[in-house]
Amino acid sequence: MPANHTYRIAVLPGDGTGPEVVREGLKVLDAVARKAGIRYDLHHYDLGGERYQKTGDILPDSVLEELRGFDAIYLGAIGHPDVAPGILEKGLLLRLRFELDQYINLRPVKLYPGVDCPLKDKGPADIDFVVVRENTEGLYSGMGGFQYKGTPHEVSTQIHITTRFGAERAIRYAFDLTRKRNRMKQLHLVGKTNVLTFVHDTWWRAFNEVGAADYPDIKREYAHVDATCMWFVKNPEWFDVIVVENMFGDIITDLGAMIQGGMGIAAGGNINPEGVSMFEPIGGSAPKYTGQDVICPLAAIGAVQMLLEHLGEADAAARVENAIVKALESGKIKSLSAGRMGMGTAAAGDLVAALV
Ligand code: IPM
Ligand code: MN
Repeated sequence: MPANHTYRIAVLPGDGTGPEVVREGLKVLDAVARKAGIRYDLHHYDLGGERYQKTGDILPDSVLEELRGFDAIYLGAIGHPDVAPGILEKGLLLRLRFELDQYINLRPVKLYPGVDCPLKDKGPADIDFVVVRENTEGLYSGMGGFQYKGTPHEVSTQIHITTRFGAERAIRYAFDLTRKRNRMKQLHLVGKTNVLTFVHDTWWRAFNEVGAADYPDIKREYAHVDATCMWFVKNPEWFDVIVVENMFGDIITDLGAMIQGGMGIAAGGNINPEGVSMFEPIGGSAPKYTGQDVICPLAAIGAVQMLLEHLGEADAAARVENAIVKALESGKIKSLSAGRMGMGTAAAGDLVAALV
């Protein structure tokens, strides 16, 4: 971006602990922006369970249109205990992903020094990979329905949509990322070609055709999704970049989050490389911890790092990552689990901001 550019960032703190971790993320953004001379304007939106209960609004069309005009979106968490499952998730989070065509869900899985890993004998050198999850298709398409609902003959379907276009753009993104990372130069396709012989065949052929034609320098590997869960635990060091369809990607990235130290540190980006992208801690709204100052803000701070990286502010992003690493190395944060940090959410945010 040219000097003097002022980034416009939309902030959706959302539900539960979302607002309190977003506050810490913004604290770190403020600190790094001062150091790096970055200018930005924030625009807060109160979308989420509270507003829905008060007004019935989930995502007004006018807000959606406004969001298209931002440089990036920073999201806390969506999900409210008093709102039926699916309403906010589909009406807000998934609608944003779809309408803004954020076709990549990017989820780095990186174990930092000083973080407790549940895997025996695995350390930071073993756990450093990125999952590229397709973010607009698959079982998330919303297609399907009921027949004879509530009777003994009830039928329900939930249709998996894979398009060649959708698979191919995710695959190309993943190959490009693998090249850019320049680590093992190896991309895994994760699927279930032995059972889901239609949709995963489309993925398989797209993966191999695109790879052979345009990415001969990148090694192609394939793993079934069930085996992938096994390898994440047994041999996480085998992975560099993974590309995976939406539902399997949702599942394996929760496992990925656990091996990098838990939801307290797992961040992700919903990316539209040609449009507006949205960054979030992936842990959800954790309603039972709301307002208690016990949730670890590092995931939300990691989301700020990804946001900066995406805006092309690589130095600022690196500063944030270094500050996270230093905070962890300081030994002051005892654990990343809620209530066990040995300090509060705000104090952990202060610590990182001071180290920026
Ligand atoms: C995630 C979440 C969402 C998903 C839910 C809240 C709709 O689990 O971001 O991984 O399934 O994608
Ligand atoms: Mn999930």
